[in-house]
Amino acid sequence: MLTEVKGFSDTKVDKLLTEAAKYVPMGFTTATEFHSRRSELISITTGSKQLDTLLGGGIETGSVTEVFGEFRTGKSQLCHTLAVTCQLPIDMGGGEGKCLYIDTEGTFRPQRLLSIGERFGLSGTDALDNVAYARAYNADHQFELLNQAAAMMVQTRFAVLIVDSIMALYRTDYSGRGELSARQTHVAKFMRTLQRLADEFGIAVVITNQVVAQVDGMSNPYNPDPKKPIGGNIIAHASTTRLSFKKAKGENRRCTIYDSPCLPESTVEFAICEDGIRDPRDDKNND
Ligand SMILES: Nc1ncnc2c1ncn2[C@@H]1O[C@H](COP(=O)(O)OP(=O)(O)O)[C@@H](O)[C@H]1O
Ligand SMILES: [Mg+2]
Repeated sequence: MLTEVKGFSDTKVDKLLTEAAKYVPMGFTTATEFHSRRSELISITTGSKQLDTLLGGGIETGSVTEVFGEFRTGKSQLCHTLAVTCQLPIDMGGGEGKCLYIDTEGTFRPQRLLSIGERFGLSGTDALDNVAYARAYNADHQFELLNQAAAMMVQTRFAVLIVDSIMALYRTDYSGRGELSARQTHVAKFMRTLQRLADEFGIAVVITNQVVAQVDGMSNPYNPDPKKPIGGNIIAHASTTRLSFKKAKGENRRCTIYDSPCLPESTVEFAICEDGIRDPRDDKNND
């Protein structure tokens, strides 16, 4: 409850909710209303101001954002942070909604939500209760969870749907050489459903993805680290915004906008901290 947030009086909460209702559908709305709201879709804060600025405000609702990178580059940490920030009031960079979290790698840690929630003034109960979590065990199950997600979204306002990570189960379920086309058909169906959920419910869909060494062609002197996200064109075309995460110094990571039709290819650094994603600490204060 917002009233349990430190420093929020009842009148302030009422005001906030009135304001929020203008932006966020709190119950049933018609498709027409949803359609007109698309022009004023909100963005959800990543916890880092610099990263938000790079993204033009934060993670965009109503579309699919893909985050790809090697192991330990902070993909899951961003997911945990968004699971909390999506619950915040709109004027705090939130989406005033719950989070649906589909975990395919078993790396979801509820304790992380507690420390992130504390930073943003959320009670531990709220931070956890507002996240609907499901562990997916195979590709079919991963898809089936989207049907359940849709049913839940009709009843309750969700702001974010996270799939961490999108391709892991496909890699094990469709590992044979002859299975690539069946796999891609399944992935395409999954991605279409994600896009539909983003569109119909105005939620931010965030998927994470692994990378593999590029096998096609020779080494490119202009790209010394030619690792590509997996899933091919189907993932590429279905994601509106694609972000590449790389390791930097210490707790810092580097995020680059990749292959975007509307945003320039630019890079910022952010930090992974105990209380979530943040701007990097000032180098002077770091030593
Ligand atoms: N509580 C924490 N405080 C600070 N850093 C953390 C915490 N938990 C994990 N990390 C850092 O997050 C990194 C792992 O990020 P993660 O999001 O799991 O990577 P991946 O891209 O593989 O999903 C590790 O380098 C780890 O040091
Ligand atoms: Mg991860």
